Amino acid sequence: MISQPAVNRTYNPRQLALHSLLLVIGKGRSLDDALANILAKSPDLEGRDIALCREIANGVCRYYYVLKHLLKPRLRKAFKSKDLDLEIIVLIGMYQLLMMRVDDHAAVNESVKLTLRQKKSWAKGLVNGLLRQLIRDEVSIEALATDISYPDWISHKIRADWPDHSTEILQAGNQRAPMTLRVDLNQITREQQIERMREQGITADAHPLIESAIVLDKPCPVSKIEGFELGLVSVQDAAAQLAAELLDCKPGMQVLDACAAPGGKSAHILQTCEAVTLVAIDKDESRLALIEQNLHRIDQQAHLKCGNAIQPDDWHDGVLFDRILADVPCSASGVIRRHPDIKLLRRDDDIPNLVLQQRAILLALWPLLKPGGVMVYSTCSIFKDENEQQIAWFIDNHKNCTVNRLNSVQWGHKRPFGRQILPGQECMDGFYYAKIHKTMMKTD
Ligand SMILES: C[S@@+](CC[C@H](N)C(=O)[O-])C[C@H]1O[C@@H](n2cnc3c(N)ncnc32)[C@H](O)[C@@H]1O
Repeated sequence: MISQPAVNRTYNPRQLALHSLLLVIGKGRSLDDALANILAKSPDLEGRDIALCREIANGVCRYYYVLKHLLKPRLRKAFKSKDLDLEIIVLIGMYQLLMMRVDDHAAVNESVKLTLRQKKSWAKGLVNGLLRQLIRDEVSIEALATDISYPDWISHKIRADWPDHSTEILQAGNQRAPMTLRVDLNQITREQQIERMREQGITADAHPLIESAIVLDKPCPVSKIEGFELGLVSVQDAAAQLAAELLDCKPGMQVLDACAAPGGKSAHILQTCEAVTLVAIDKDESRLALIEQNLHRIDQQAHLKCGNAIQPDDWHDGVLFDRILADVPCSASGVIRRHPDIKLLRRDDDIPNLVLQQRAILLALWPLLKPGGVMVYSTCSIFKDENEQQIAWFIDNHKNCTVNRLNSVQWGHKRPFGRQILPGQECMDGFYYAKIHKTMMKTD
C-alpha cells in the first residue's frame, strides 16, 4: 500500500509535490485537481512554498519520461508498485538536480528526508546512492532528444501529422506556457491595462495578433492584478480568445455554447456582444458552477444548463440558434506545455473514442442551427483526426454546409478545412478552429 497524505501542517513543499504526483501517477488524477486537493490541506503554506511545490510537480510531469529513461540503467531492479512513492522521491530529486538551481547537497538531503517522512528509512541509502550516482555521472537533460520527454505514441503521432514542424512542436510542448489575459475592451483599453499593471510592477506586452490579449512577462497570482476582481481582465490564452471573434455574434442572436465549462469562451462571447441570449451547457454538473463563478465576476448572465450535447432532447427547448460554439472534449495535445500531466494521463486508444464523441456532438448540434447560421468547431488539439479530418468527414456527410476558408486571418496555419495554431506559435496554445456556415437548404 502506498502511504496516503494525511492532514499535517508540517508538510513541506517537496512532500506536497510528492503527494500530488502520487495522485497523478498512481491514481490517474489530473495534476490541477491533485494540487488543488493537496494544497487545500495546507492552508498555511507560504506563496513561495506553493510555487516550489507547483514547480516540482509540473516539472516532474514535463520530464517524467526523460527522468525515467535516465534512472532505468542505474537501477538494479525496478521499484515495486508499493514503492511508487520512493520512485517519485528519486524523480523529484533528479528534477531538482538536473533542471532547478538547487544545490546538489540540498537536493539529495531533502530527498532522503522525504524517504524518512514516508517511513521508509530502509530506502534512504538507495535514494541517496542513486542521486549521488547521477551527480558523479554529470548527467544533462538538455543533451537528450526532445522525443524522449514524450510517450512514444505522442511523438510518433506528432511526427506523422506534422513532419515539417514536429521538432518545434515537441520543443514547444516542453516550454512553460505564458500567462495571458483577456481585456474587456468595453471597460478599458489594452494600453491602459498594460500601464496600470506596469505601475504595479507587472510587466506585459500586447499580443501581436489578438487585440484583446496581453501576455505577461512572468506569471503572477490573479489576486495581484488590478482589475481582475472587477472583471476588467480575465485569464485566457490568446488562441482561446479567437472563438468569440469567429462567432461574430450580433445583438438579438440566440447563441449556444455547447461544451461551456469553465466558461472562458462564454464570458468572452458576452463581453463582445452583451445583447445576445446565451445558452451555456456542460454535461459535468460540478463544472457548471465554474461557469457561474466566472460570469458572476464579470457581471454577465447566461442560461446555464447541465446537459449532454449529444442528447439535445433532454435540454433543448426547440428554439434554433444563430450561432453555436462546439468547443469539444479533445486530447488536449495542443496544451501539453500548460498541462504536462497530459503526457502521463492520455492514452493512444483515447483518441478514437474522442473522435467518435466529437462526431456525435457535431451531428447532434447541427439540426439546432438556423439555416444561415454559423457553427464554430474548436479543439485544443493538434491531431488531425480530431480537427481537419473531422471537419472533412462532416462536410462529406452534410449537403447544407460550407466551410469558411478564413483567408483573411493572420493566425495559424491554413488547412484544407479550418486553421491550426501550433503550440507556441505567436505565444499561443495549440488550437484548431473551423467555421461552418449552414446554407439555406431545408434538409439536414
Ligand atoms: C474543452 S472544455 C470546454 C472549455 C470551455 N469552452 C471554455 O472555454 O472555458 C470541454 C468541456 O466539455 C464538457 N463536455 C464533454 N463532453 C460533453 C458533452 N457530451 N456534452 C456537454 N459537455 C461536454 C466537459 O465537461 C468540459 O467542461
